[in-house]
Amino acid sequence: TGMVTLDPGFVNTASCSSGITYIDGDAGILRYRGYPIEQLAESSTFVEVSYLLIYGELPTQAQLDDFTDKIRRHTLLHEDLKRFFDGFPRDAHPMPVLSSAVSALSTFYQDSLNPFDDPQVEMSTIRLLAKLPTIAAYAYKKSVGQPFLYPDNSLGLVENFLRMTFGFPAEPYKVDPILTKALDQLFILHADHEQNCSTSTVRLVGSSQANMFASISAGINALFGPLHGGANQAVLEMLEGIRDSGGDVDTFVRKVKNKEDGVKLMGFGHRVYKNYDPRAAIIKKTADEVLGKLGGDDQLLGIAKALEERALSDDYFVERKLYPNVDFYTGLIYRAMGFPTRMFTVLFALGRLPGWIAHWREMMKDPATKIGRPRQVYVGSPERDYVAINER
Ligand code: CMC
Repeated sequence: TGMVTLDPGFVNTASCSSGITYIDGDAGILRYRGYPIEQLAESSTFVEVSYLLIYGELPTQAQLDDFTDKIRRHTLLHEDLKRFFDGFPRDAHPMPVLSSAVSALSTFYQDSLNPFDDPQVEMSTIRLLAKLPTIAAYAYKKSVGQPFLYPDNSLGLVENFLRMTFGFPAEPYKVDPILTKALDQLFILHADHEQNCSTSTVRLVGSSQANMFASISAGINALFGPLHGGANQAVLEMLEGIRDSGGDVDTFVRKVKNKEDGVKLMGFGHRVYKNYDPRAAIIKKTADEVLGKLGGDDQLLGIAKALEERALSDDYFVERKLYPNVDFYTGLIYRAMGFPTRMFTVLFALGRLPGWIAHWREMMKDPATKIGRPRQVYVGSPERDYVAINER
């Protein structure tokens, strides 16, 4: 009751207090738990960053070993859950497969669903961190018709995921340290981003005291959209589209500026960053290096660079403060690593998982948490009398 303020897209409305991630969009600053993203990307690992986001502090060696070991022991999927993958059509997009399997975890682990029982929350945390890479790899294997591989728990989280994705049962998988390091770093860069669409979804669903699996399954579905995590797939499809129509960047930019058919420059623009996206700055630096070593698609990289250069010198983009975001170059790297376009958003989900978990846990512990229930401004018909069907 009282004054209701209309704020479509929550541009000016804070939904919670949070101590996890700090962003200064004008200065291009991103910090997890106070640590600059540049330092974490350079020196940390994805598992360590997951610990930091979820528990609030960098782990000691003993804490990290314990955390790593716990995750390692929960990577297997229940054989019955494995059979879920058989039911999806062969050409199913892996994102809804991912969210469905995560939703199904609620049915397999009914002993860890109480959001206010600390040991149960801990169990769900470990299960999710351990099983999502396995689920993601199976979603991929299903789409290419190859046999599933059981996790090899002598490997680290990222290596294990790569092996389950690209390995074959009868062949030993050769771990490529360049690929592993690059993917680990990309996961760090995606690990949290405060109240973005999917994280806000996780919080909104969780605010009804829904369990962690249900809440995060909803977050995965929110991430699927092309304006959010789906942008990395959309960027690559855009680059391929430009290439297939002759590689003319100017024509494409003109279409974007005229807002023809709602065409956007995918991978550009951000709600919060109005100067540059610090994640994009790091990724651009590593893109050249990684593509150089793994051998990327030079034609598409060339188009991306020409597109960026063209946009950054154009009034349309300058006036609106539109810069490359995290998704602009990631697709090219994922592609060089051998992932099909449809897996790109799944990789984003794997990276974002610790952030979702951290926010869900923070919210459950926050005494100020109330069920999420936005207000509205009603613009429909005023009161009127029911009209019998034969009189309409
Ligand atoms: N291409 C062309 N025009 C754009 C773009 C773009 N990528 N982004 C924004 N604009 C224009 C927009 O049309 C508007 O122009 P006008 O004032 O003439 O109506 C102006 O810039 C302001 O944009 P907005 O839509 O009000 O900004 P927003 O904060 O609501 O949207 C965004 C942010 C990221 C959804 C948007 O920039 C966008 O759609 N970008 C393309 C999709 C994308 O790359 N998403 C990934 C975001 S980063 C990772 C993630 O969150 O998943």
